[in-house]
Amino acid sequence: MSLEIRVNGSTHRVDAEPETPLLYVLRNDLALNGPKYGCGLGECGSCTVLLNGRPTRSCVVPAKAAQGREVTTLEGLGTPQAPGLVQQAFIDAQAAQCGYCINGMVMAAHALIARTPHLSHQDIVDALRHHLCRCGTHVEIVQAVALAAQRARGEVVA
Ligand code: FES
Repeated sequence: MSLEIRVNGSTHRVDAEPETPLLYVLRNDLALNGPKYGCGLGECGSCTVLLNGRPTRSCVVPAKAAQGREVTTLEGLGTPQAPGLVQQAFIDAQAAQCGYCINGMVMAAHALIARTPHLSHQDIVDALRHHLCRCGTHVEIVQAVALAAQRARGEVVA
């Protein structure tokens, strides 16, 4: 079946069964490898994308559910040459170790800051609570999100 999906501002037509997980379509058909396959059960958060701006676990969302909605992946937030606000903060805070969780952390943080850049430490912890980080850069990740939020508020120039 042919599905029309809008991803990162572009419209794509892919041949896929409607129930195919969105994650598979993004990675296998569109070569967007920012979202990662972790648990495949909606538990770890590594496959997170934004659906109409809301963090969504793409491993448990059928591709058909993305039709008529805007999908944003990690690639839609910036590039290696021009990282987005949150991506740059993660780089500056050295918040990545194995990288397994980073996609989900960045996508969730982007959505959180878009809702409000005025975040407490607890707001950040709560928003990232269900994203599994298995090598333990939690402290740097929270610092990165706080840094991105500060920059979004225009409080930090560097
Ligand atoms: Fe989707 Fe773990 S791979 S939540």
